[in-house]
Amino acid sequence: MVANAHASHSTSSPYRRFLDPLKGKELTPPPIWLMRQAGRYLPEYRATREQAGGFLDLCYSPRLAAEVTLQPIRRYGFDAAILFADILIVPDALGQSVRFEVGEGPRLDPITTEKELARLRPDATGKKFAIICETVQRLRQDLPAETALIGFCGAPWTVATYMVGGQGSTDQADARSWAYRDPDGFQKLIDMLVEVSVDYLSGQVKAGADALQIFDSWAGSLPDNEFARWVIDPTRAMVEALKARHPEIPIIGFPRGAGASTAEFVTATGVDGVSCDTAMPLCAMRELAELDVAVQGNLDPLLLVAGGEALDRRVDEILAAMKGRRHIFNLGHGITPPTPPENVARLVERVRGGAG
Ligand code: CP3
Repeated sequence: MVANAHASHSTSSPYRRFLDPLKGKELTPPPIWLMRQAGRYLPEYRATREQAGGFLDLCYSPRLAAEVTLQPIRRYGFDAAILFADILIVPDALGQSVRFEVGEGPRLDPITTEKELARLRPDATGKKFAIICETVQRLRQDLPAETALIGFCGAPWTVATYMVGGQGSTDQADARSWAYRDPDGFQKLIDMLVEVSVDYLSGQVKAGADALQIFDSWAGSLPDNEFARWVIDPTRAMVEALKARHPEIPIIGFPRGAGASTAEFVTATGVDGVSCDTAMPLCAMRELAELDVAVQGNLDPLLLVAGGEALDRRVDEILAAMKGRRHIFNLGHGITPPTPPENVARLVERVRGGAG
């Protein structure tokens, strides 16, 4: 990529249309980026990934991580790039060794007691966070000036589900059980994650991120009172702390599966944007947009695998439903590996050309 953006991190930033809906302005056509836009569906990602060795080696190589972040920008010209890393960088930096086993997803040595919690080293996270921030710095130099850069981390609840379960699960039973059995002990883990995640995201902003997204992929597994304590409260604490340090930074929350609790999530946390999963009805997305928030979403990633007229039809429905509102076009969840890259091109063209 040509480094044509050297002025971009100076005092006056160039115009980045992605940021408009987050700052209160509706745009037609809406800005577009896709969760997991860098990844295995792209042959150039698979090649770089192979060069890096392991998945975490890729995350901890600023040069290669920046390269895979740029790949989908070169192909599709999305309005925003998202830093290439993973939500499990935080437990890894805390000293809970994280492994990615081929074809199996992440593995961690589970933490289920306060005693095991005491072994984590919040003070030692700086070194690994600094490597990720170096990727952010490189990206702000190498991205086109008009492309926004999104920094991210996992929300405390979702990261905790992996730390406690030691791997992904369909019901997050281990974390939910600890939270019921010993809420005070579990709260210590959540509080630690709030604190280090704020430092991590603050470092990303200082390094050049234009906006932040907090991924709460497992927000939907909690009953409402637990949702308030483990999803809303920690997110609000993070938003408050980040806004105190960086008053202008837009923050998007992604409480996946939150359903009828999403409106409360928006008003109680103070996020500037909310990302909606595929199951959120379009009429509910429209209502959310009345809450002084940008609404992101929510195409089914499987439609991007299917392509064709079914894809076009749904894209048009989403655009029509969100027309005139503060909308950011995205999927309801990440791109999956079987996605044909040409379907992504078709989607971008449809959103950019068909919305007028
Ligand atoms: O969106 C992007 O392009 C930025 C990079 C990004 C990755 N993971 C890269 C990745 C982001 C934002 C994430 C977030 C993430 N990671 C979440 C939250 C979003 C969601 O999907 O719900 C979660 C839960 C994780 C944890 C995680 N990382 C799992 C469960 C897995 C294994 C599943 C899988 O898809 O293989 C990962 C690995 C991972 N993270 C890959 C990528 C591109 C695939 C690894 C590979 O190349 O082999």
